[in-house]
Amino acid sequence: MTVGVLHPGEMGAAVAAALRAGGHDVAWASAGRSAATAARAGEAGLRDIGTPEAMAGACDLVVSVCPPHAAVAVARELRGFGGIYVEANAVSPETARGIGEIVTSGAAAYVDGGIIGPPPREPGTTRLYLSGPAAGEVAAAFAGTPLEALAVSARVGDASAVKMAYAAWTKGTAALVLAARETARAEGVEEALVAEWARSLPDLADAYARAGRSATAKGWRWVAEMEEIAATFAAAGQPDGFHRAAAEIYRRY
Ligand SMILES: NC(=O)c1ccc[n+]([C@@H]2O[C@H](COP(=O)([O-])OP(=O)(O)OC[C@H]3O[C@@H](n4cnc5c(N)ncnc54)[C@H](OP(=O)(O)O)[C@@H]3O)[C@@H](O)[C@H]2O)c1
Repeated sequence: MTVGVLHPGEMGAAVAAALRAGGHDVAWASAGRSAATAARAGEAGLRDIGTPEAMAGACDLVVSVCPPHAAVAVARELRGFGGIYVEANAVSPETARGIGEIVTSGAAAYVDGGIIGPPPREPGTTRLYLSGPAAGEVAAAFAGTPLEALAVSARVGDASAVKMAYAAWTKGTAALVLAARETARAEGVEEALVAEWARSLPDLADAYARAGRSATAKGWRWVAEMEEIAATFAAAGQPDGFHRAAAEIYRRY
């Protein structure tokens, strides 16, 4: 297959490299992208096809792996595409279905996706959940690659729901531990809190350090992800305040 990846960020470059390892011809689109993205694409051995429009005309499969807040605009750039479009970003089921409407208003087929785990470099670390009528076909394209692709169902939105519910816990609790310690600091009792953590919750000092590192590196991207999770909770009849607050915490980073 000829596969296009929009765009080779930290995760997208690893997904693209996995597809190359699976024997596919993998292209990226350099138009408008930074030197850092170009460097990652070069390292992964990707072919520069120039623009998303050129990708639309040449690829059988296009995988969108970009910041969640850019997912809708990225899908719109693929006008005229007639292959299978995989939306692999951390967006709500409702956003995923909306992107599906954009994509299938042309000739393309649409598969919803969600990635759980670090950028895949070796088998066993990372899963790509897929849903939609062509989920099995997309999963087959990843056979033999370091990224394990799992078809969840034929219903668009289910793969995103898995990702949202999973990240609700991982990134929600990371935001909470940051805010808890900030509160203790503001009250002048940080030292006492850290001493109590050491006695009764010995994992939290490390969890706090990890959360701080991640928030510093990726907090800008997680704001939209928390908002997507809040929308997912609201649509499921759950309170959405947890993740609206988490978005606010990450915005401060
Ligand atoms: N990284 C992880 O460990 C991880 C884990 C699970 C899931 N994911 C998912 O993977 C997706 C991408 O994450 P990432 O870590 O690869 O992000 P990243 O390293 O920040 O890369 C984002 C890529 O998208 C491009 N981009 C940034 N803003 C854009 C915009 N407004 N319009 C179009 N393209 C834009 C960037 O290009 P330029 O910088 O050149 O503009 C870059 O190539 C997210 O949906 C995330 O939830 C990531």
